[in-house]
Amino acid sequence: MSEGAAKKEEKPRKFQAIRGTRDLLPPETALWNRVEQTAHEVFATFGFGEIRPPIFEPTELFARSVGSRTDVIGKEMYTFNAATELFTFEKLSGDSPSPEGAENLGEFVFRIRDAFEKGDIPPIESNKRAVDSLLSKFSELAKVSQQLKPGVWQGSVPFLDAYIQLDAECRAIASNIKLGESMSLRPEATASVCRAFIEHGMQQLPQPVKLYYMGPMFRRERPQKGRYRQFYQIGAEVLGGSDAPAIDAEVIEMVMTFFDRLELQGVQLELNSIGCRECRPKYVELLRAELLKVKDKLGPDSQRRIETNPLRVLDSKLESEQGIIATLPRIADHLCENCASHYAAVKHQLEMRGVIYRENWRLVRGLDYYMRTTFEITAQGLGSQNAVCGGGRYDGLVELLGGPPTKGIGFAIGEDRLILSLQESGKAPAQQGRDVYIAWMGDRAHATAIRAAKDLRKAGFSVELPPVEQKFGKALGQADKLGAKYALILGDNEVSEGLWTLKTLADGSQAKFTEPDLLEHLRRQKALSS
Ligand code: HAM
Repeated sequence: MSEGAAKKEEKPRKFQAIRGTRDLLPPETALWNRVEQTAHEVFATFGFGEIRPPIFEPTELFARSVGSRTDVIGKEMYTFNAATELFTFEKLSGDSPSPEGAENLGEFVFRIRDAFEKGDIPPIESNKRAVDSLLSKFSELAKVSQQLKPGVWQGSVPFLDAYIQLDAECRAIASNIKLGESMSLRPEATASVCRAFIEHGMQQLPQPVKLYYMGPMFRRERPQKGRYRQFYQIGAEVLGGSDAPAIDAEVIEMVMTFFDRLELQGVQLELNSIGCRECRPKYVELLRAELLKVKDKLGPDSQRRIETNPLRVLDSKLESEQGIIATLPRIADHLCENCASHYAAVKHQLEMRGVIYRENWRLVRGLDYYMRTTFEITAQGLGSQNAVCGGGRYDGLVELLGGPPTKGIGFAIGEDRLILSLQESGKAPAQQGRDVYIAWMGDRAHATAIRAAKDLRKAGFSVELPPVEQKFGKALGQADKLGAKYALILGDNEVSEGLWTLKTLADGSQAKFTEPDLLEHLRRQKALSS
């Protein structure tokens, strides 16, 4: 290899965020904070408290609640098992006897022991016995291998036979260890909130329990604008109590109030009822029968869905299928009496609250736990991924997860999309500049500048204090670049006179103040501009 090529190879790798993930940076993060702060405030006015569940949970929790046949669970989860990695240990199987093989096996055995001690391997009695006997077999094996000649062991019978026997026994014991359960990064948080409701016996609290959350979710989807593999949701759930239609309406009213507070543009609420365990299966059968009649005219995806999940055909965006879908039976005409009156009452309750909605009989959600009320909200400026919020009722989910019969309804907002829409409509704040840039020269001025910075920050002003002395001209240029409103100029004269110069950068005007007057002046100006 040429010297040049070798140098090129030595270049350290430049890392990039993994596909579908991204860094959120200032000034955009200021908007994220404002959105989250508004959520805290609005949700609190509706009596919701914050829950922060973990980011990973047992895979089975999601499979059972969201449904193992859904895309979210079947195709898109990030799943791992703390212990399986140990067992994919490269050199474990098929090693011919060798000093390296013994070393590798030793490493494997000690990793198993450590994993057991850390609790990554379930601390059950049979595993404890397996780990103990693995350790003692391995120490026998280590003694035998010491009897073998260094280097390649070929021909070192009879110890070799004993070694091979012990090696096989170690592997057999290891294969009997029961691994911990599979875990997944959460693709959504409703399942976690229900798990927490059961785990903490929240049915004992005054009902309903109203909780909200915000944080990252993970789905291995094809990334595009508004669709990420790590994305953020702000969601809320109402658990327990009754299924009164006023609860559905109030939850929706809360999201709309939140969007309104943020001045989100082009907000449209779509509403549907997808029935219950009584009426939905009958409707699905009817739909399937009707779809079979027109099967030949449908695309391959919809043809497949006739068998797997006919409701999802209604979701189709394929142009050629739209005419056919328009003639299919509508669930609203096939709801049981209870569902029909619940749906009518939800609509009435929304009207009482002045919430404008559009009924969409084709609105089916991609998660299995829904029943009755379902809704989605779209906003402007988002292109094809324009759903900024989705939600609905999920009575029975808590029970499905081993808890008491419990009513439930909630929603989740896609925060990334919410931010995108706010940015598109010019609602994003510009770069947040500093209030005061302190330009100082000289040792005495430096000490005064440090004290001034402390006092100004204490009073809530954002202050930039340069770490090294700069000529005033350069310092003022820097203050401009940072978007500072004022430059506080501190030189020897100012310090000895006790009169500080404050320059307003927008118009270049200057004035002198004593220390207390300066603080008072800045306070007054801030109050005037806010
Ligand atoms: P979801 O419809 O799957 O519902 O997600 C809710 C929202 O999260 C979507 O409307 C969208 O804004 C956002 N979202 C979903 N996937 C992505 C992605 N890959 N990138 C960016 N944003 C995304 C749920 O998650 C339910 N847990 C909502 C719920 C709560 N239902 C009842 N309670």
